[in-house]
Amino acid sequence: MCGIIGCTGNQPVRNIIINGLKQLEYRGYDSAGIALFDPKTGIILKKKVGRVADLEAATENLETVAGCGIGHTRWATHGGVTEANAHPHQVGHVTLVHNGIIENYRELTTEYGLKDVLKSETDTEVVAALLDRLYEGDPMKTIKKVVNLLAGSFALCIMFDDQPGKIFTIRNVSPMVATHFKNEDGTEGSLIASDLVALIDYSKEYFVVPEYHILTLKEDGIEVHDLKGNEVKPEILTVSWDINAAKKGGYPHFMLKEIYEQPEALERTIQPRVVNGLPDFTEDGIDDEVFKNLKQITVVACGTAMHAGIVGKSLIESTLRIPVLTEIASEFRYKDPIIDESTLVVVVSQSGETIDTLEALRLAKKKGSKVLSIVNVKGSTIARESDYVLYTHAGPEIAVASTKAYTVQVSAFYLLAARIGFVKGIVSEEDTRKFVANLSQAGALIEETLKSANDVKRIANHIKTAPDLFYIGRGIDYTMSLEAALKLKEISYIHAEAYAAGELKHGTIALIAENVPVIAIATEEHVYAKVISNVREVKARGAYVILISHDDKEESKEVCDKQIKIPASDSAMSVFATAAIVQLIAYYTSDAKGLDVDKPRNLAKSVTVE
Ligand code: M6R
Repeated sequence: MCGIIGCTGNQPVRNIIINGLKQLEYRGYDSAGIALFDPKTGIILKKKVGRVADLEAATENLETVAGCGIGHTRWATHGGVTEANAHPHQVGHVTLVHNGIIENYRELTTEYGLKDVLKSETDTEVVAALLDRLYEGDPMKTIKKVVNLLAGSFALCIMFDDQPGKIFTIRNVSPMVATHFKNEDGTEGSLIASDLVALIDYSKEYFVVPEYHILTLKEDGIEVHDLKGNEVKPEILTVSWDINAAKKGGYPHFMLKEIYEQPEALERTIQPRVVNGLPDFTEDGIDDEVFKNLKQITVVACGTAMHAGIVGKSLIESTLRIPVLTEIASEFRYKDPIIDESTLVVVVSQSGETIDTLEALRLAKKKGSKVLSIVNVKGSTIARESDYVLYTHAGPEIAVASTKAYTVQVSAFYLLAARIGFVKGIVSEEDTRKFVANLSQAGALIEETLKSANDVKRIANHIKTAPDLFYIGRGIDYTMSLEAALKLKEISYIHAEAYAAGELKHGTIALIAENVPVIAIATEEHVYAKVISNVREVKARGAYVILISHDDKEESKEVCDKQIKIPASDSAMSVFATAAIVQLIAYYTSDAKGLDVDKPRNLAKSVTVE
């Protein structure tokens, strides 16, 4: 939550910072702000409630002034959405931006008598006040003193008014990546941000900022020191995806682009792990020993990543007969979970930075379980702290609503299931090969499904005025309904509920009235007739029924008002086709309502607060 950026170079940096903030805006968009260190006048501060575009308009006159600055785009936690609470915060000598939460800010305010200097309601301003209070001309010494007092998570970019051209940074948990760039035209600079997407226009090389290390960004390079003062050389990584992947590329929204990117994302995630027709994790460094003795799998994640885990559970339990528990990370971490050395804990996260998921991982390790994570962002904290990592290769996902990250997570679970079943001798080699061959078609299946986009658009136009909507299904289709309802809620603001089709009549059917849309997903042959009976029950009570299925049966046409046909495939694989349809339903509904599809209200992409 919140995006931060800092840049210092031998050219004006306002445009670099504004463009970076635009890339980071998915992390929060309540307000935005910038501080530029002008050699003549000192630090110029500008903040705006609203979007980065508003800040851009308000700072046009600053295009040429400064070679050093910091910027912030906010997802409000402490204090309302006001200009006073927007970052950067400035107290005395210190101007800073922050991503994270300082848990002991009240105690620090009292202990250091800071109340009178604070002008905002934020936890962040307390850090600025504390730095200023303890500053005696040595930034590194002061930062070291202050971070030892802080409890919570933080990524901080700090400027001191007597240190022109320099930015100091430190982080704990909250992510930061950094780079130094040098162009042929002689321009050079150092850049740091919450996410790679803000750096890639300047360099393909970067490093993950190590926790509790102080960085000094200067025009000609970046110095990294640990808290004892030793210089550290961080490992340089190279961006593995195409730079254009973080741009809209002609699509009206990132979400639509990302829906259409799914075939390639699946290909990139699945194909390197299929060797001679069998699933293979050698390149991932995952030893089969991990699977041989496992008796239980516990999946821990949040939101859409959790929903991918629930699909994984459905497949693993039905095909391997291994019990899989799914635990919402924010619940898991505050109970005493029943896990031990024989449990494989699978942690799922697109960003690799979700704080609840990260803390759940740490708890699982403490309890002696091995942790395998399914993560999209290379080098992220969750990836680094896991025993094993199965990277998904969705490329950057910018829209807040997760789409391609979800389907590649599902594919990772399918590969995992295939390898575990094969290694443990539960599934024969022949059946494993068949399964993997089917899985390799997942991308093609989505490509074919996306041809129905126009039909989906018409349906979205119909449901856009509904206040409530229900998704129903059984088995794996129920697991998909959970994700379908979340997607619709988060970007169209329609109250959507996912219900196991057979459970509706135990209470919730009371909510079905004339024209309430019910979207039934029915791709599993063995429960197909049961779902159709449930559809009849809601239809009899006036529901407007949309059926997602791959059949041509007369009966299905009779019971629904509209049918969306998906290409035929076996029931496990139909998840990919259904995912594409429900994503399009959410997308077109939000767009038809004129909403901000990529940046829905109240949300942020990366949830680094509890
Ligand atoms: O980065 P993560 O996968 O850990 O994020 C978890 C959830 O916050 C995320 O999946 C969220 O539910 C999606 N943005 C919903 O589309």
